[in-house]
Amino acid sequence: MSITETDTTPKLPARETWRALYRHFRPHRWTVACGTLLALVGAGTGILQPLAARALVERLGQDEPVGRILLVLTALVVLGTAIESVGAYVLERTAESVVLAARRTLIGRLLRLRLPEVERTQPGDLMSRITSDTTLLRAVTTDSIVSAVTGGLAFLATLVMMAVMDVVLLGVTLGVIVLIGGAMALVMPQISRATRRSQEAVAEISTRLERVFGAFRTVKASGAEDREAAVVEAAAEEAWRQGLRSAKWQAVSGSSVGLAVQVSFLAVLGIGGARVASGAIGVADLVAFLLYLFYLTEPISKLVSAATEYQVGLAAVARIAEAERLATESPAPAAVTARGGRPATVAFEDVAFRYRDDLPYVHHGVSFEVPGAGMTAFVGPSGAGKTTVFGLVERFYEASGGRVLVDGRDVRDWPLADLRAAIGYVEQDAPVLAGTLRENLVFAAPGATEEEIRDVLVRARLDALVDRLPDGLETLVGHRGSKLSGGERQRVAIARALLRKPRLLLLDEATSQLDAVNELALRDVVAEVAKEVTVLVVAHRLSTVTLADRIVVMEAGRVRAVGTHAELVAADPLYGELAATQFLTAGGA
Ligand SMILES: Nc1ncnc2c1ncn2[C@@H]1O[C@H](COP(=O)(O)OP(=O)(O)OP(=O)(O)O)[C@@H](O)[C@H]1O
Ligand SMILES: [Mg+2]
Repeated sequence: MSITETDTTPKLPARETWRALYRHFRPHRWTVACGTLLALVGAGTGILQPLAARALVERLGQDEPVGRILLVLTALVVLGTAIESVGAYVLERTAESVVLAARRTLIGRLLRLRLPEVERTQPGDLMSRITSDTTLLRAVTTDSIVSAVTGGLAFLATLVMMAVMDVVLLGVTLGVIVLIGGAMALVMPQISRATRRSQEAVAEISTRLERVFGAFRTVKASGAEDREAAVVEAAAEEAWRQGLRSAKWQAVSGSSVGLAVQVSFLAVLGIGGARVASGAIGVADLVAFLLYLFYLTEPISKLVSAATEYQVGLAAVARIAEAERLATESPAPAAVTARGGRPATVAFEDVAFRYRDDLPYVHHGVSFEVPGAGMTAFVGPSGAGKTTVFGLVERFYEASGGRVLVDGRDVRDWPLADLRAAIGYVEQDAPVLAGTLRENLVFAAPGATEEEIRDVLVRARLDALVDRLPDGLETLVGHRGSKLSGGERQRVAIARALLRKPRLLLLDEATSQLDAVNELALRDVVAEVAKEVTVLVVAHRLSTVTLADRIVVMEAGRVRAVGTHAELVAADPLYGELAATQFLTAGGA
């Protein structure tokens, strides 16, 4: 059971995955090489220590002075430890940097995703790619490479020594290793698959929690706590199950190292015994060969753990790369701060639009024209496509037919940042972000002065509220502004849009939750603004729009009629009916 509408993101071909992994590693290749070198040098000093110790014992036996040797031995121990810890630090540091770099690119991209892409996916899922999947990159881009290199080198060196001993026995050994290695290669992808499912389950946890906290009151009011908890728990259990699967396969591949060595041992013992009997090799050779065989355990273990970490990394990098491939708005909107200017013009020319190719059309040839400053109202039944008009003006979506013009220029030809910089938008559900009141006000105009803020507070009728709050503008408003009333949230949203000093102001049901006194006051503010700014408003309460310069009546994705209140009352039956039910036919507001 998933609340994701379609499968979240496109799956990635294996080659692409590999390339994506390499991309994460590439910037750090020299640091990793350096870490590997330090690890090798550290290991080297480790090898020298027994030699120094042997020399020490020899000298002790011959009653020679041991001071210098002791000094050398101490230096070796200190040096070896120091080099190893520096190497470990370099690798850990690189691992952290890989995670940071991956997070940075993801954060940058996710904030610029196109709206349809975000609507296709789940925020919780996207968030978990940034928080949880990136951490899995740590090992694969560092430890696993060091293990592969050091393990690989030791493996080759041991093989060379074995070849010197006896080529036939080496062949036997390699035969066994290749056989068991081949079986393991079949098991390896299971680790990747289990890791991927586990990460998907973790993402499901975030998605579910995000849904719950996004509508916490509704969850409580519906008594849905237990049901929702059960679903989140189910996702947690799935993560656990897949974790166990991965652990199982890791255990299998880990123990197969021992198996490979043991079986090789038996095979070498048998065949080697025969060769000793036939006089092809000496007993001493056989014993030495068997010793080398046991030396192989460690390098093979390292190679196996490198391969395991690679599988885990593959699962994560695939999920990260999928998120990176979601379509973003480009070029990235820069922070354009130009505020004010002449009022914008807006025109729709036979616009056809649907939200997705598999959905019905929402606009069937919408045309209207807004020549400049003044107020234009959009009215019509719920679902008529009014909010969609605003979405197209902001170019959150692109029309599939016809043209949307702002200042006579197709919005697709506008630099996105410039287009949006010209517009102030108050969404239908007046979003307020967690943070302080001040942060919310200057959100769309970071450069606003103290004076401008004061002024807009008065205009949006928020001054009394701010004066009443003990922390004033620094008051925290809670998650999505939950500590404000509905009407307060709307006024904050309006103030934010006004502070931006837009050339085009889009108000979608911006005053629907205000009391009559405040609504009237804000209607005057908007009327005042409309003298210099192009204002488009959507309103169900016609009382807010009777004074508009033009009213566009929409129904089922079409424009029925355009005119003033008086004209429409006389000429358009739908508008007349709306006006009549709201007692507005007898001479306006
Ligand atoms: N993001 C979306 N994805 C898919 N369909 C959508 C999306 N947003 C709106 N729709 C659909 O498009 C149609 C028009 O929606 P729109 O929000 O423009 O209506 P509206 O006129 O603003 O209605 P209301 O007065 O209720 O706000 C509706 O049928 C709605 O279900
Ligand atoms: Mg709407």
